[in-house]
Order: sequence, then C-alpha cells, then structure tokens
Amino acid sequence: MSNDSAGRIVAALRAWIATAPPGAQLPSNRALMVEHGASPVTVQKAVRQLSALGLVESRPGVGTFVRTVRQARPADYRWQTAALGAPRARLSGLSSTQRASVPDAIALHSGYPSKDLLPERLVRAALARAARTEAALMRSPAAGLPELQAWFASQVDDAAPVGVTAPSARDVLIVAGSQSGLSSIFRALVGPGQPLLIESPTYWGAILAAEQAGVTLVPVPTGAHGPDPDDVDRAFAATGARAFYAQPTFANPTGTRWSADTGAAVLDIVRARGAFLVEDDWAHDLAIDADPQPLVGHDDDGHVIYLRSLTKSVSPALRVAAVIARGPARERILADRAAETMYVSGVLQAAALDVVTAPGWSAHLRGMRHQLRARRDLLIDSIGAHAPEAHIEHLPMGGLNVWARLPDGTDVDQLVRECETQGLLIAPGSEWFPAEPSGPFIRLNFSGENPSRFAEAGEVLGHALRTVA
Ligand SMILES: Cc1ncc(COP(=O)(O)O)c(C=O)c1O
Repeated sequence: MSNDSAGRIVAALRAWIATAPPGAQLPSNRALMVEHGASPVTVQKAVRQLSALGLVESRPGVGTFVRTVRQARPADYRWQTAALGAPRARLSGLSSTQRASVPDAIALHSGYPSKDLLPERLVRAALARAARTEAALMRSPAAGLPELQAWFASQVDDAAPVGVTAPSARDVLIVAGSQSGLSSIFRALVGPGQPLLIESPTYWGAILAAEQAGVTLVPVPTGAHGPDPDDVDRAFAATGARAFYAQPTFANPTGTRWSADTGAAVLDIVRARGAFLVEDDWAHDLAIDADPQPLVGHDDDGHVIYLRSLTKSVSPALRVAAVIARGPARERILADRAAETMYVSGVLQAAALDVVTAPGWSAHLRGMRHQLRARRDLLIDSIGAHAPEAHIEHLPMGGLNVWARLPDGTDVDQLVRECETQGLLIAPGSEWFPAEPSGPFIRLNFSGENPSRFAEAGEVLGHALRTVA
C-alpha cells in the first residue's frame, strides 16, 4: 500500500472524528485494515499522522481515542510583567540585518556573505573528514582543540614585529562565533554598571551584547582614520573605564581602518590607563585594498583582548571564532565560557581547522578579495549613478559594507520601508550608534546574492530617496 492509502485512511478518519465526541475510541487497527484493505504498516502510519496533527491520542494496550478538545483561550501573561519588572537594557528585538529575505528581493541588509563567496568545496570536504575523526564523538577541551588554538596563535605570531612576545596557543580560547566571545568579554572583564568605551558608530551586536551584560556604554566618535586619541584619553579619564571596544581594521559599518599612528597612540593610552583594548578583527579575511595589521601583534602584556572569527570567510554554519586573552583576563573569560557553553563542538572546530590549513585556502582568500572589490565597486558606481544623494564618505578598504550618509532630515525608517515595497532590503544606520545617530545613515552589504542587480538597487534607492524627501 502506498502513502496515498495512508492519506485516504487519514481523510476518512478525520471525517469520522469531526462528528465523534471527544474521548471516543477509534476502530481497532485490525478493523481499519479490513475496512480499508490496508496493511498494518499503512494503518499505523495513518494513526501516527492523526496523532501528530493532535487529533487522537494512543493509550498503549488500550486503544486510540479522539483527543479531548481543550477550551482555546488567550494565555494571560500579565503576571510576567510584575515578575520581570522593567528590562535592564532597551529591548531592540532582532536587528534589521537579521530580517528574513523576501523571494525576489535585492537583499543588501544582511551581514553575512552569500554562498558563492564561500569555500564550499573545502567546507563540504572538511565536514566529511571531520565526521570520521574522534572529534565527532568526543567532548572538546574547554579552551578548544589544541591544533586550532595553535593555528589562531600562529596567525598573530606571523604579524608580530620582532621583539614582541606574541600570544601562545594557550592564550587562545575557541568560541562559537565572535558574538558569543563579545558577550563573555563584556561580562567577565567589564560587568554590570561599569563603563565601556565604544566607537560610534560601531557593530550593533557589540552594543547589544554590552547592553545585555548591563554595561554602561561610553560612545567615542570615530572617523576615516579611527577615533581621535585625545577623545579616547578624555573618555577614560572622565569615566574611569578600564576597557575600550574597537574595530581598528575594516570596521563594521564604515569599512575604514585606523591609521598606524592612531593605533599606536590608543595602545599607549590603554597601557597608561591600565585598561584593555577589545580588538574585534571580524574582517581579517575580508581585506580588499589593504592588509590587516592587528594591534594585538604589538602587545606583550595582555592589554589587547583580540577576537578573530571564521564565520564569514569559512562558513556561517561552522560558527568558529577565537578570543585571545592573556593573564588573569584569560581565566575570567574561560570561566564565563564554561558557565555558558562548557565547550565548542569538536567536529565544527576540526572542520574549520581543516579548511584554513587546506592547500586551497590562500587561493580562496585571494579570489574572495577580487570578488569583494568587484562587488563593492559595482555597488558604489550604481549609487553614484542613480542615487547621488546617498553620500559615501569613505571607500571601504575591507569588510562587506558600504556606509552612506543621506541628506539631513531624511526619515530613514520611511526610506527603508519605501525601498522594501520596491523589493530592496537595506539596513537603517541607527542600529550602529550606541547613542543618538549623528545623522541619517544606511548600511548596504555588497556581499549578498545577485550583484548583477546592483544597478537596479541603485535605481530603487534613488527613486525612494526622492519619494521620501
Ligand atoms: C564587528 C563584528 N564583530 C562580531 C561579529 C559577529 O560575528 P560572528 O559571526 O563571529 O559571531 C560581527 C558580525 O557581523 C561583526 O560585524
């Protein structure tokens, strides 16, 4: 008997159930077999389907019965309002970058690259190999697979100048994505009510993680070459903060990079203030016009807490990143990791290591750089041609995004909605500001599907800008 036979029995029983009182017993399986000329397997399958639909319940050894219908009434959650009180941090819900894409829309809102930019062949082969290793069945050490820790450490070591003692493999803690690393760092090294200096604009997820940790944000304006070191020093002095979260390389959202002078000056300030610099090197593998030179390579004494993620260059599905921290700070972060997740899946770590040590990895990074450059230039040209009101202040030297300033007074939310009705998804810039936005901005990701539609995207944006003006 086929699936259709089971379907026919389900249909017949549904009609019967519709008129039967709750609690009525269904005919026995044997009776159903005879009635429908069906095998026991087909009858059992039909009964399982009815059970999955919530229409019947089976009592082993007794029979199958029509489920008692419970009175549907709206749940009363008011008690939770009193139990929970007011939220500690503003509740922002999902970021607009995490909105699901609509079929046929041009999606420039997301933060992750499309599949065709990823090393698909390497990832699939690595996952198949990892599944055959011991890692598939074992618990990973809390700090991570030693070989992967060593790989992350060697990456920093390669970039460190002579005379600086680079972090060792032991200083590397493997985390499930750098988002999770940020939460641990803010909880473990800053803590509720304590101040944290943060660039403005900066990554919305860092703002969210800090707010969830109860940290008090202290925005420091940043620009084409990074923040003004005097502003950083003044903010440390005024607040007594002991940590500064920053993206010196290819910042999200602007794509800019700190000058070498700014990096050196901020490191000096951090040392003088006895503070941490939380260096988020999220776009290390997403360089376009310049090579990344992380500040962690210049730090001997554990002032720099460094984050490096593979989720955008290897695969968002592997979700492997590293936090590098030295001294007691390492122990504090490790304790937080243990409390949160204990360890990261060894299979995912083994697969990530396999990809980044594969012979094809460097060629993949080179290819990705070309593709990102071509996509970035295509999008910028299209905006210049069709939406010149959207002003791109800085050419992004790396990363995945273009950050555009709109004419003063533009209602960005209205613009986003207008674009969406025309099939273009963009992200409103307000999410990247820890306080009020300094102007109307939007962020456009050039690493999504279909760069061939960037010209169309520029046209929609230009039209929408003129509609909302
Ligand atoms: C600056 C920055 N840091 C951290 C993250 C989080 O990355 P992951 O995917 O490793 O959690 C992102 C993601 O977009 C980001 O832009």
